[in-house]
Amino acid sequence: MFSSRKAVLLLVAGLFAVTCAVARAADAGHFGYGTPATPAQIAGWDIDVRGEDGMGLPEGKGTVERGADVYAEQCAACHGTFGEGEGRFPKLVGGVGTLRDERPEPTVGSYWPFAPTLWDYINRAMPMPSPHTLSADDVYALTAYILHLNDLVPDAFVADRKSLPDVKMRNRNNFIWTDPRPDTMAKPCMNACVDAAGVRISSTAEGKSLTPRTTGPLDTMQPR
Ligand code: HEC
Repeated sequence: MFSSRKAVLLLVAGLFAVTCAVARAADAGHFGYGTPATPAQIAGWDIDVRGEDGMGLPEGKGTVERGADVYAEQCAACHGTFGEGEGRFPKLVGGVGTLRDERPEPTVGSYWPFAPTLWDYINRAMPMPSPHTLSADDVYALTAYILHLNDLVPDAFVADRKSLPDVKMRNRNNFIWTDPRPDTMAKPCMNACVDAAGVRISSTAEGKSLTPRTTGPLDTMQPR
């Protein structure tokens, strides 16, 4: 029979072997688990496209005509035949001039600042039930078609990595790229940060009946 002593010895020997293996793997310059990502794996994740200049857009191209076909098959059910939006699914067209209204309609045509971002969005997120199933060419074609529905490009437009960054989007100049608030502009300060002589309290909220005396549900609060 197998004695419990032998079992313990075997267990200890086994643990020792595992520890050595882990130590060797760790010595090799990593934590002893996982494998380096392959270039193909990295390429699968590295899909972002920069709006302003289209950096990251892949090879390929697509026409408005081809886009109309793919759109009818894969997008119209939710976004409407002409981008008008079915039910509560988002419109992709219209809303131009509404951005200052009480109920603005932000769409690709009225709101989006960059055409390459449209390629990026479709490529990563649409069609909603099965994202990442479109070829780069079909994403280009859909981008061309949606820009065309918004009267931003002519019938003969061909979308590719060169043409998309040049499309003039209506709201392009209404985004503020630098944040002028003083606290975001402030340089980090490590010592003598407050100029004590320059700080002056000019008013306080005290005595202005701003804070109710009692707390609790509104209807039980008594004004002063
Ligand atoms: C099952 C319904 C459905 C289908 C099919 C679908 N979409 Fe969408 N789409 C949505 C929804 C829902 C959103 C909003 C997602 C969100 O805001 O998170 C959206 C958002 C979008 C937007 C961004 C709109 C904006 O201004 O924010 C674009 C562009 C778009 N879809 C394009 C497409 C294209 C192109 C196809 C076809 C390849 C497609 N969609 C297919 C449901 C769908």
